[in-house]
Parts: sequence; structure tokens; C-alpha cells
Amino acid sequence: MPETIDQKSAYFIDLEAQYGAHNYHPLPVVLTRGAGVYVWDVEGKKYYDFLSGYSSVNQGHCHPRILEAFAHQAQRLTLTSRAFYNDQLGVFASYITRLFGYDKVLPMNTGVEAVETAIKLCRKWAYEKKGVKENKATIIVCDHNFHGRTTTVISFSSDPSAKNHFGPFSSGFINIPYNDLQALENLLQRDADIAGFLVEPIQGEAGVFVPDEGYLSKAKALCEKYNVLFIADEIQTGLGRTGKMLACDHENVRPDIVLLGKALSGGMMPISAVLADDDIMLTIRPGEHGSTFGGNPLASVTAVAALQVLVDENMAEQAERLGQFFRDALEKLQSPLIKTIRGKGLLNAIEINSTDPNMAWNICVAMSQKGLLAKPTHGDKIRFAPPLTITEEQLSACIVIIQQTLQTFE
Ligand SMILES: Cc1ncc(COP(=O)(O)O)c(C=O)c1O
Repeated sequence: MPETIDQKSAYFIDLEAQYGAHNYHPLPVVLTRGAGVYVWDVEGKKYYDFLSGYSSVNQGHCHPRILEAFAHQAQRLTLTSRAFYNDQLGVFASYITRLFGYDKVLPMNTGVEAVETAIKLCRKWAYEKKGVKENKATIIVCDHNFHGRTTTVISFSSDPSAKNHFGPFSSGFINIPYNDLQALENLLQRDADIAGFLVEPIQGEAGVFVPDEGYLSKAKALCEKYNVLFIADEIQTGLGRTGKMLACDHENVRPDIVLLGKALSGGMMPISAVLADDDIMLTIRPGEHGSTFGGNPLASVTAVAALQVLVDENMAEQAERLGQFFRDALEKLQSPLIKTIRGKGLLNAIEINSTDPNMAWNICVAMSQKGLLAKPTHGDKIRFAPPLTITEEQLSACIVIIQQTLQTFE
């Protein structure tokens, strides 16, 4: 390892580039420590984290309560596999199902595994409960969705870079425009083999697209009318991020299947979960689905602590209040570089107004130099998603950084 400070970052960046696959394009910042809303790089520079591990660190980095639960369980028992019972999975299952009001939970690890699980559950329900003919079950998805990276899930992506040369793709999905109830109803009317509608309550990766008020509740009503499962991918929007425990709560929608991930561990480890009632969940029987790590005791303990912290520290309310404050402050900047500001709670984005295709990237690099980490999404959008523990004072300091950075490009 190099001695001088300014070589340290370069050393780790080169190391990754030389020995790691090139499937990401990170900002040139090498982080070594995190606490609350802050992260520090290997040179000791401190930053506000406005990505939060793509909304996984809602509770703040290394939250002491989650860390304590995690470390305690890590010394006791980490993995049994589901070949045996463990004394923590049931505790987690009863806690999370009561908290969200569902009969059952199916624990997995990553977000995309939860999505895959929901697809399997939905199809099984369609064949065994709805009476769809074998291999005909179809799931409606939305254009510009992001549900993860497996071969099945990219099959219904509309992002060419997610799909290029990864075919052949899986069938059984139909895309419709997001936020278009007529398109949804047209399909539901036409096709009796539709099993489910998989939707992000806000499209996060696409650039934080918030649908019209009433979209989710009307889409749910249509799904009920046509006996189709409404599957909410709350992996990014859930767990307080948008100002409610679930983004669907804004419209009092109770999805048939809820998918959670990311902040379910407060960033400690990959934990995801699928929530549904017995009528759906019990269509999967022993031996038909599983995961070596899903439901392990370490994950179970960590998830309970991560959820309790969200509840006890009123993080959803905090996100609601500070999100409004943040958007209002961005609005007041009146920057010619900001084309639009959108978001809910502390899941927000600005769309950059520039003919330079690298502008959003350059702004993010400049903000990082001033101590704020954010990442462009889909070229010209910058997402702002700090930990929900951020204070008004810290948020005001961040607005100043954003303002000063934008001014250098105006
Ligand atoms: C809405 C949504 N679904 C699914 C995923 C996939 O989660 P993971 O990367 O943990 O597989 C993501 C990740 O960004 C997401 O935002």
C-alpha cells in the first residue's frame, strides 16, 4: 500500500479495476468508514452520503442498535440452512408480518431474489387458484422498470444496456407504460391469463418518477376487478424512505404481495422478504422454493433490529417532513441547470437541464469534492437519498453544497 495520502485512493481504484469485473462505473471516491449520515474516504475526507447504498442505509451507517444485534448474533449462530429450525426466524417472521399486516413472510437475500420469488408465487397462484391454463400465466410490468439483474428480470427491462447480448430472454411478461391506467385496463380486459401486475410505487432507478395521485389505488382496484395480483416492489421505496413505511401507504393501498430488501438490514447484509397472505403464500410447498442463506438467524435478528429502529425513531415521519423541506429548498435555488425536481419523502431527484451529456456526472464529481456523494441515474438525473436520520441543519448545509456546485456550472 502506498505511503503518501494522495496515492491511497488511486491504489484502491487501480486494484479494483485490475482484479474486479468492470460492471460498475463508480465516482472516484474510496470509502473506508461510515457513521450516521457521514462516510469517510481513505484520505480521511468526510462526506454526506446522499445515495445511502441505493436506499439501503435508511437508518444511517452502522446504526448502533442494529450493529449491536448483528454483532451479538454473529458470535452465537449465523447459518443453519432451512434444513433445521432456528430460534430467530420465527421471531422475525412474526414481527414483520404483524408490522405490515400479512399472514406470512418468505425470507430471501437480495432484492432481485424477492422479485423472482414473487414471480414464482404469482404464477403458482394463477395456476392453482385462478385456474390459468398451464404455462400461460402472464405478468404485466411497466416500461422503464427496475427490478434487478437476473436473466428473467432483465427479460422485461426496457433499458438496452441491461439486456444487450444477455438473451435469450424469458417470456410471460407484457410491458405497459408506467402511470397509464387505461393501458392497464385494456390489457386486463383482453387477456384472461394475466396473473399479476408488478409495479414500483415510485420508479427509483428510472429517475424517481412519481406517478399521479390515485394511480396506485386505481391500479389496485383494477387488479381486484380482474382477479389479478397487485405486486408492489417496495425494495427501494419501502421502509420509511418516501415518508411512510410503504410508499403504497400514501394511497392506502394494501398490495397482494409486498417486496422488501435494501434497508431491511440497515445496510448490514443482504436481506429481502416477500409478504403475502396464506391464500397466495401457501401455494408454494416444501421443496418448491428456497435459499441456503434466506431466513438465517443472523439475518433474522438484524432485520428485526433494523425494523424496530425505523419504528422507534419515527424515521418515516422524519423523511416526510425533511423531504418537503428539501424539495422546497431546491425549488428556491432557481438554478437554470435544474429542469425538474421530483420525489416523495427523502427519495428525490433533479433532472439536469443541459446539452452536455456528461453534465450530471460532472456535477456529482464536483459535489463529491465539496463533501456530498450522489450518483447520476440514467444520464441526466441526480438522485438525492440521504439516510433518514439526517437533520434539518445537515440538510441545509447540503443545500448550500448543491447550490455552490450548480453555480460553478451555470
Ligand atoms: C425497485 C427495485 N427492485 C429490485 C432491486 C434489486 O435489488 P438487488 O440489487 O438487491 O437485487 C432494486 C435495486 O436497486 C430496486 O431498486
